[in-house]
Amino acid sequence: MSGSRIAVIAAAGAFSAAAAFGADEIASYEVEGRRSGFLYMTEETRALQEDAFLNPGMFAVEEGEALWNLVEGDEGESCASCHEDAAETMRGVAARYPVFDEKRGGLVNLELRINEMRTSYMGAEPYPYESDELLALTTYVANQSRGVPMAVEIDGPAAPFFEQGRTFYETRRGQLDLACGHCHDRHPGDMLRGDVLSEGHVNGFPIFRMLWSSMGSRHRMFEWCNTSLRAEPYPLGSEEYLALELYVAWRGRGLPIETPAVRR
Ligand code: HEC
Ligand code: HEC
Repeated sequence: MSGSRIAVIAAAGAFSAAAAFGADEIASYEVEGRRSGFLYMTEETRALQEDAFLNPGMFAVEEGEALWNLVEGDEGESCASCHEDAAETMRGVAARYPVFDEKRGGLVNLELRINEMRTSYMGAEPYPYESDELLALTTYVANQSRGVPMAVEIDGPAAPFFEQGRTFYETRRGQLDLACGHCHDRHPGDMLRGDVLSEGHVNGFPIFRMLWSSMGSRHRMFEWCNTSLRAEPYPLGSEEYLALELYVAWRGRGLPIETPAVRR
């Protein structure tokens, strides 16, 4: 009996979120015991995320949509001139990234793929990593996959990069001599300097982070966690963070893309 009541409440919640975003509903924030960072946020922060009118990340989605339609570069193209309606052509893409790329002989994430479109197909300059423009366009593209379960490819040519990412995740570093899992596997739900520790999943990125008063990428978050351990961070977009991103995306497999998530 209590089970069916919970089901009714969950269905009602999913319905209002879907109506607000006009995108597919998020069926569950927990998949096979893996819990989205959303579930570690306060009621207020969750409500902010779920309301498309109040979610501060929706500004980035709007800005990204404008950039999607903007003609730039020597070729006279916009993203839209080739890909047309992002709701159709970009649906599900973010859930598969990062991927192995033949040309690079390495991994490419969504940010780098978007920049490659600008340089190879548009004759435009790449956006700097973490620029407002790259964050906005990445947020817009990822938002098209809202509700799609993360499912990255870790076999074949991606396998060695996956292992590299796993090693990064498991290596102790910094003056505090901690690995990622010391916080995100052992202590989710516990407080750390005013933050409730989550499981460290990446399904909400780019996120609007209140601490930053801005959007931030997955790599900025890795940099922030590294720095808070007083460990030397790697450059955003580096091979090290790409490998880590692949491992962490796999670790959260099945969790729905929530972009733009709101985090403390
Ligand atoms: C001249 C046509 C053209 C333009 C302009 C263009 N793209 Fe693409 N895009 C492609 C083609 C072709 C592919 C598939 C082959 C590849 O990845 O190179 C692709 C692939 C992609 C992918 C990867 C899809 C997947 O399934 O992995 C993304 C994401 C993407 N484009 C986003 C963008 C964005 C954002 C812009 C604007 C900044 C843009 N594209 C501009 C032609 C274009
Ligand atoms: C000393 C504890 C600590 C360690 C070690 C640590 N982090 Fe974090 N991490 C945090 C805190 C605090 C936050 C913000 C609250 C939260 O979501 O956990 C955070 C947030 C995150 C998030 C955002 C989660 C979300 O839902 O938006 C990701 C992703 C993440 N960390 C990944 C990592 C990775 C990868 C490593 C290893 C390189 C790492 N963290 C190491 C403390 C840590």
